[in-house]
Amino acid sequence: MFEPRTAKLKDNREVLIREMQAGDVEASLAFFRALPERDRLSFRRDLGMREAVEKRIRELEDGAVKRLVAVTADGAIVADGALEFSEYGWERHIAELRLFAAPSHQRKGLGMLMAGALYDLAASAGVEEIVVKMMPSQTAALRIFHKLGFRQEAVLRQYVKDLNGARQDLVLMRRRLEDLWQKYEEFMHETDLRSFRME
Ligand SMILES: CC(C)(COP(=O)(O)OP(=O)(O)OC[C@H]1O[C@@H](n2cnc3c(N)ncnc32)[C@H](O)[C@@H]1OP(=O)(O)O)[C@@H](O)C(=O)NCCC(=O)NCCS
Repeated sequence: MFEPRTAKLKDNREVLIREMQAGDVEASLAFFRALPERDRLSFRRDLGMREAVEKRIRELEDGAVKRLVAVTADGAIVADGALEFSEYGWERHIAELRLFAAPSHQRKGLGMLMAGALYDLAASAGVEEIVVKMMPSQTAALRIFHKLGFRQEAVLRQYVKDLNGARQDLVLMRRRLEDLWQKYEEFMHETDLRSFRME
């Protein structure tokens, strides 16, 4: 269970970070449809399609994935983050993190605040290690995860296909959760980013 929290961005705008809910289909669809082409290329499935968005919300029911969203006062989703847990015994201590932020809210610390919220979720689920997977073209993602202390572990050449069907490399980065917290706290200390639990 994730305690909803309000978070203040670097430009003083506030968002509510909470778990995704069944009623989030429309706002989620609007969020993914508004992402620029370069971000949509990295979707693992076409989230501009209603069925795909409905399916990822239905997936929440069996607990194999947990999703958080950042929501503005008028109800718009401006970030979407996920932790996907392995179905296999030998990877049961690992979760994969996914994260998207709306262009209107990027470079304001929202990605870092979402990452912190996802670490909380990971810690409460007993996760020991987090992995992120991306294509080399996802430069903002490479930068933020590097800043968070993730290190590149492997590159699988021409392994995945982007939404246009073109083969791309897949970069895998990983970090132990305990080290992540330390790195995260250091970064947050240097900024005035804050989030507050709701009473
Ligand atoms: C990756 C992403 C979520 C980052 O969100 P964000 O809210 O802009 O991130 P933050 O503002 O918290 O950035 C934190 C730090 O990451 C680095 N960073 C983030 N975006 C960057 C960019 N475009 N260029 C260079 N550095 C960047 C910076 O060091 C930044 O700190 P600074 O702004 O103080 O310099 C967002 O760019 C995004 O949605 N990208 C497309 C989707 C994607 O590739 N997701 C990854 C899939 S796992």
